[in-house]
Amino acid sequence: MTKPLYSIPGTPQPAAASPAAPPAGEPASTGARTVSEVLAQSQIEAVMDELDRDLVGLAPVKQRIRDIAALLVIDKLRANLGLAADGRHTAPSLHMCFTGNPGTGKTTVALRIAEILHRLGYVRKGHVVSVTRDDLVGQYIGHTAPKTKEVLKKAMGGVLFIDEAYYLYRPENERDYGQEAIEILLQVMENQRDDLVVILAGYKDRMDTFFKSNPGMSSRIAHHIDFPDYGNEELLQIADRMLAAQHYRFGPGAREAFEQYLERRMRQPHFANARSVRNALDRARLRAASRLFADRERVLSEADLTTLMPDDILASRVFQAAAS
Ligand SMILES: Nc1ncnc2c1ncn2[C@@H]1O[C@H](COP(=O)(O)OP(=O)(O)OP(=O)(O)O)[C@@H](O)[C@H]1O
Ligand SMILES: [Mg+2]
Repeated sequence: MTKPLYSIPGTPQPAAASPAAPPAGEPASTGARTVSEVLAQSQIEAVMDELDRDLVGLAPVKQRIRDIAALLVIDKLRANLGLAADGRHTAPSLHMCFTGNPGTGKTTVALRIAEILHRLGYVRKGHVVSVTRDDLVGQYIGHTAPKTKEVLKKAMGGVLFIDEAYYLYRPENERDYGQEAIEILLQVMENQRDDLVVILAGYKDRMDTFFKSNPGMSSRIAHHIDFPDYGNEELLQIADRMLAAQHYRFGPGAREAFEQYLERRMRQPHFANARSVRNALDRARLRAASRLFADRERVLSEADLTTLMPDDILASRVFQAAAS
């Protein structure tokens, strides 16, 4: 029995990898012989520096991305000396799995990685298509393959980010259409890996279970990256950066109030790391606005319009719950 071989259109022929034929319009990227030449041509250092600067913590994640970037840079230098084997199946496998709790930065890092891969020429466009089970799997027979292929077509040339990927596999339902989506994904991950990077994301324990039942998927994932929960101090620093990016700041005592807020919020259900920080700050800004809105005749200075006061934070439900 022969299996149908899915091929998603839109992938260019791998001729661009040949050192003899530099793609027109590109500044002779094929000629680089040193790491700094490749770095200068691809400008990935700017993206990596930004990643270091913009994202608080995540030291192991940042290191892994640097390692992957180093591998790709060296691969480029090898290709320039004609050392890379030819053919599309020799591109390094860059499919990844991001495990971690909600709000630990998985989507954010996926966007940066797509940018790096694009600058190094591993994907043509560098966009990220983010999906969940419902985008891939149909409700009725015959609906899944077209849905999955449509998504793959959109993602081609970039990164396909599958959130909570384990929902694709439902062992309790023998005839689940998720299996069909997995099989199509597997073929494209193998055959078109020079133009599509798949990132699976989700909770670590469920992902482990998923890989145990889907060894084919597991064997195609080259990089497993774990996103740890943020500590208290990291969450505060994340809050500082989020506020600065919106031209806000903590007024006297407000940062301390936010620290207390975090201590309480972390112990409550559905705490989602940096995402909870963002949501809490949004609500604090709302309260700050109501506070200013109440006094119609006051001339509002820049400081008034940019400062969060302790009460803007202490009015949160999180504190009321503790008082009762
Ligand atoms: N280390 C960090 N430094 C600064 N901001 C961060 C950091 N990690 C996450 N954020 C911010 O927190 C928010 C949530 O991050 P993101 O969406 O990347 O998390 P996620 O792991 O994909 O979450 P989910 O599982 O809920 O989708 C974003 O606004 C992001 O910019
Ligand atoms: Mg996300």
